[in-house]
Amino acid sequence: MAGIKLNLENSGITQKNILEYKEQVENIHKELHEKANEEKEFVGWLELPTNYDKKEFDRIKKAAKKIEKESDILVVIGIGGSYLGARAVIESLTSSFYNMLPDQQRKHPQIVYVGNNLSPNYINELIELIGEKDFSVNVISKSGTTTEPAIAFRIFREILENKYGIDEARSRIYATTDKEKGALKTLADNEGYEQFVVPDNIGGRYSVLTAVGLLPIAVAGIDIDKLMEGARIGQVRYNDSDLKYNECYQYAVARNLLYQSQKKIEILVNYEPNMHYFTEWWKQLFGESEGKEGKGIFPAGVDFTADLHSMGQYIQQGERSLLETVITIENPNSDIVINPDDDNLDGLNYLAGKKLDYVNKKAMEATIKAHVTGGVPNIQIKMEQLDEINLGELIYFFEKACSVSGMILGVDPFNQPGVEEYKKNMFQLLEKPGY
Ligand code: PA5
Repeated sequence: MAGIKLNLENSGITQKNILEYKEQVENIHKELHEKANEEKEFVGWLELPTNYDKKEFDRIKKAAKKIEKESDILVVIGIGGSYLGARAVIESLTSSFYNMLPDQQRKHPQIVYVGNNLSPNYINELIELIGEKDFSVNVISKSGTTTEPAIAFRIFREILENKYGIDEARSRIYATTDKEKGALKTLADNEGYEQFVVPDNIGGRYSVLTAVGLLPIAVAGIDIDKLMEGARIGQVRYNDSDLKYNECYQYAVARNLLYQSQKKIEILVNYEPNMHYFTEWWKQLFGESEGKEGKGIFPAGVDFTADLHSMGQYIQQGERSLLETVITIENPNSDIVINPDDDNLDGLNYLAGKKLDYVNKKAMEATIKAHVTGGVPNIQIKMEQLDEINLGELIYFFEKACSVSGMILGVDPFNQPGVEEYKKNMFQLLEKPGY
């Protein structure tokens, strides 16, 4: 099986329906690829897997080694597109208990995230967790002026300076920001922090495979060469302008067809708890790209089977405005055999000798059948295994599908004018000069 495989057999969408979009998708493909290398367009992610800055990539690896040597904890400061991609990949590809593992077993620094909320409790609890431990900071902000990470950086910079002195603090700070402008860029230049670049032609939600995501990902011990290789495979596989042969474009068309039939909410489903943040990344990608001009599918997410016991009722019988996209991992990274029990008081002996992943898959099959019967069309995205290569391909699959889907919908999938509205109100309330 190829790394990623799309299955539309339970979606209610036929190949004939899909191919009605053949010409439109061909035009979109052409438009997208013509912009690929234009500095002013936000399409830099399109050829990134073959076109990335190799020198910076090596510096990322070196910085990751230095952080690993000097620190027990890496504090990642960022929000939205400057945060979710790193967390999505790290949590998907490391143990669910990564931060709790003993050092010898984890082998890489603990990774913690801050600057993604304004809760004083959260920050105080993190300061308490760090305690006397050695730490480094990766502050990630394209603009350098986003309130949440800017406040967090001020706090943790001060802690670093008090703990290590100004000079050593400087050597423990890594700034990922714009290549020439912005508040963080100025600060980083003045202080002499090691810097990594958020490319101009890649928006936050498409930036996971730039230094934005790659530095924290490398610190967690994940093989970033393999991640990029997976994305490269995606770049090649999903480069066919012919809708008939391009499953990434078929997914984009299928969700638009379902949207037209009043399926206004797409739920991304996983059966692996450590993919929770992958779903959070996906939600931002699609939500910010498509939700504009009064249009767009609302992207939601559930972790099954846990959420079958909370959201299952609504999905089965609530308002029929839902569609589900299920990510299936074909081969688990490990498995457990259910042993027989002499007393069988829990009545589970009918499963004796079966593996837990088998039960997980049966739960999934049963759920898909129930939800489809209940009027929730199903799209399945099968992934051979949850590893760097396949995840790299899946990231590319969704980034490209999202941009094509937005263009079919008739919106600009690369802007986000709506996110400024609340900020204006907040700055007025906080009496920020100029507001
Ligand atoms: O995708 C986006 O553009 C946003 O989510 C931004 O990444 C987020 O608001 C953080 O912005 P910045 O990197 O400028 O701090």
